[in-house]
Amino acid sequence: MRVFVLVPILAAAAFAQSLPPGFVGSEICQNCHAEVWENYHANPHYKLLASDSTPPEQAGCEGCHGPGGGHVRAGGGARTIPRAFSRLQPGQILDACLSCHARDFSRANIRRSSHTEADVVCTACHSIHSSPAPRHLLADAQEQLCYRCHGAVRAQFSMPFKHRVNEGFMTCSDCHNPHGADPPTWRMGNRPRMVAQHLGNEQPCLRCHADKRGPFTFEHPPLRVEGCEGCHSPHGSMNARLLRRPVVFTLCLECHTGNDSFGRQGDGVQRVSPSHNLFDPRYQQCTTCHVRIHGSNADPRFLR
Ligand code: HEC
Ligand code: HEC
Ligand code: HEC
Ligand code: HEC
Ligand code: HEC
Ligand code: HEC
Ligand code: HEC
Ligand code: HEC
Ligand code: HEC
Ligand code: HEC
Repeated sequence: MRVFVLVPILAAAAFAQSLPPGFVGSEICQNCHAEVWENYHANPHYKLLASDSTPPEQAGCEGCHGPGGGHVRAGGGARTIPRAFSRLQPGQILDACLSCHARDFSRANIRRSSHTEADVVCTACHSIHSSPAPRHLLADAQEQLCYRCHGAVRAQFSMPFKHRVNEGFMTCSDCHNPHGADPPTWRMGNRPRMVAQHLGNEQPCLRCHADKRGPFTFEHPPLRVEGCEGCHSPHGSMNARLLRRPVVFTLCLECHTGNDSFGRQGDGVQRVSPSHNLFDPRYQQCTTCHVRIHGSNADPRFLR
C-alpha cells in the first residue's frame, strides 16, 4: 500500500476502487492532512496500519473516522467524514473507541463509571493526534489533566501532609481507575469513587503498604469494613499520618462512642475503657499505647 505514498489525488482515487465501497485507505489522507500524518508513525495506532494485515475499516485513519470515500470525492469538509469527532455526542465517541478497546476494560465498568455518566468520555482525557504526554496519548501530564476538572483535589494535594503526586513519585491512577471500577468489597456499599482494586479485590493501598495487609490474629474491624479511608484522607491532611481528623482521639471517638444511636454505623462500638480519663492529655494520644492500631498478633487491644 505504501508505494502510493506520493501519488496525486486522482490516481489515489482510482486505487480506491479496489477497496470495499467507501473505504479508500489511509495513504490518500496525507495529501490534505499532512500535519496529522507527520506525527502518526509515533502513534500506537500506527501499528495497525504498519502491519498491513488489517482491513481498512479496522485500521488507519478510517478505523476511527469511518469510510472516507465520500469525503475525498467532496474535496474534504467536516460534514462529509462519517466520524468527525468534533461533531459527535459523548455516547458516539465512547462507542467508536470501544469498538476496538472494549476488551481493555474488562476489569473496569466503563459504561457505568462516574465519568461516563457525567459525559466525560475518551477524548476528554486522550488526545489522539497531539498528545504532549510520553505515554497513553494523554491530553496533558496526568495530574494536570485531572486537576482541570478536580480543583478541590488539587488543593488537597497541596496540604502540609500528602502523597507526593505533584512531586512525581506517584500518580492518581496508582489509586484510581479513571475508566471506572466495580464497587469495592470494602466501604459497606458506599459510592465506589472509582478506587482501583488491586489483586483479589483488595485496596490499592496494600500494593505499597503491604505490612497493613494482615491477616492479624486480632483485627481492627474498620480496616476491612470501611477500608483505609475510614481513618485516612489519602490525598492530603493536616495530620502527619494523613488521618481524617487533625488529632487522633477525635477520630477514635467518632466510632468508640458505645452508643447505639450515635455510633457512625449506629452499632455501638466498644466505648473507651472507664480507666481512660479523656481530659488527661496523656490519654488523648491513643496510639502511644494502642501502638498496633491496624491489628495485632499478640493483643486484642492492639497494645503491642
Ligand atoms: C484512534 C482513533 C483515530 C485515528 C486512528 C485517527 N484519528 Fe483523526 N481524530 C481522532 C479524534 C478523537 C479526533 C478529535 C481530536 C482529538 O481529540 O484529538 C481526530 C481529529 C482529526 C482531525 C481534525 C483536526 C485535528 O487535529 O483535531 C483530522 C483532520 C484527522 N483527525 C485526520 C486523521 C487522519 C488523516 C488519520 C490517519 C492518519 C487519523 N485522523 C486517524 C481520532 C482518530
Ligand atoms: C482533498 C483533500 C482532503 C482529503 C484527501 C482528505 N481530507 Fe479530510 N478534510 C479536508 C478538509 C478541507 C476538511 C475541513 C477542514 C476544516 O473544516 O477545518 C477536512 C476535514 C476532515 C476531518 C474533520 C475534522 C473535524 O473534526 O472537524 C476529518 C476527521 C478528516 N478530514 C479526515 C480525513 C481522512 C480520514 C481522510 C482520508 C480517508 C481525509 N480526511 C482525506 C480535506 C481532505
Ligand atoms: C477521566 C480521564 C480518562 C477517560 C475519560 C478515559 N481515559 Fe483512558 N486513560 C486515562 C489515564 C490517566 C490513563 C493512564 C493510566 C495509567 O497511567 O495507568 C489511561 C490509559 C488508557 C489506555 C492504556 C492503558 C490501559 O488502561 O489499558 C487505553 C487503551 C485507554 N486509556 C483508552 C481509553 C478509551 C478507549 C477511553 C474511552 C472509552 C478512555 N481511555 C477514557 C484517562 C482517561
Ligand atoms: C480500529 C481499532 C481502534 C480504534 C477504533 C481505536 N483504537 Fe486505540 N488502539 C488500537 C490499537 C491496536 C492500539 C495499540 C495497542 C498496542 O500498543 O498494543 C491502540 C492504542 C491506544 C492507546 C494507547 C495505549 C497504551 O498502552 O499506551 C490509547 C490511549 C488509545 N488507543 C485510545 C483510543 C481512543 C481514545 C480511541 C477513540 C477515539 C481509540 N483508541 C480508538 C486500536 C483502536
Ligand atoms: C493514595 C491513593 C490516592 C491517590 C494517589 C489519589 N486518590 Fe483520589 N481518592 C482516593 C480514595 C481512597 C478516595 C475515596 C475517599 C473517600 O471516599 O473518603 C478518593 C476520592 C477521590 C475523589 C472523590 C472524592 C472527592 O474528594 O471529591 C476524586 C474526585 C479523586 N479522588 C480524584 C483524585 C485525583 C484527581 C488524583 C490525582 C491528582 C487522586 N484522586 C489521587 C485515593 C487516592
Ligand atoms: C473533563 C473533566 C474531567 C476530567 C479531565 C477528569 N474528571 Fe474525574 N470527574 C469528572 C466529573 C464530571 C465527575 C463526576 C462528578 C463528581 O463526582 O465530581 C468526576 C468524578 C471523579 C471521581 C469520583 C468518582 C465517584 O464515584 O465519586 C474520581 C475518583 C475522579 N473523577 C478521578 C479523576 C482522575 C484520576 C482524573 C484524571 C486521570 C479525572 N478524574 C479527570 C470530571 C473530570
Ligand atoms: C504507589 C504506592 C502507594 C500507594 C498506592 C499508597 N501509598 Fe501511602 N505512601 C506511599 C509512600 C511512598 C509514602 C511515604 C510518604 C511520601 O510520599 O513521602 C506513603 C505515606 C502514607 C501515609 C503516611 C505515612 C507516614 O510515614 O506517616 C499514610 C497514612 C498512607 N500512605 C496511607 C495510604 C492509603 C490509605 C493508601 C490507599 C488509599 C495509600 N497510602 C496508597 C506510597 C503509596
Ligand atoms: C481505625 C483507623 C485506621 C484505619 C482503618 C487505618 N489506619 Fe492507618 N493509621 C491509623 C492511625 C491512628 C495511625 C497513626 C499511628 C501513629 O500515630 O503511630 C495510622 C498510621 C498509618 C501509617 C503510617 C505509620 C505506619 O504505621 O506505617 C500508614 C502507612 C497507614 N496508617 C496505612 C494504612 C492503610 C494502608 C490502611 C488500610 C489497609 C490503614 N492505614 C487503615 C489509623 C487507621
Ligand atoms: C471507623 C470506626 C472506628 C474507628 C475510627 C476506630 N475504631 Fe477501634 N474499633 C472499631 C470497631 C468496630 C471495633 C470492634 C469493637 C467490638 O468488637 O466491640 C474496634 C475495636 C477497637 C479496640 C479493641 C476493643 C476490644 O474490646 O477488644 C481498640 C483498643 C480500639 N478499637 C481502639 C481504637 C483507637 C485507639 C482508635 C483511634 C486511633 C480507633 N479504635 C478508631 C471501630 C473503629
Ligand atoms: C496510657 C495508655 C493508653 C492510652 C493513651 C489509651 N489507652 Fe485505651 N487502653 C489502654 C489499656 C491498658 C487498655 C486495657 C485495659 C483497660 O481496659 O483499661 C485499654 C483499653 C481500651 C479499649 C477497650 C475497652 C474495653 O472495655 O475493652 C478501647 C476501645 C480503648 N482503650 C480506646 C482508646 C482510645 C480511643 C484512646 C484515645 C482517646 C485510648 N484508648 C488511649 C491503654 C491506653
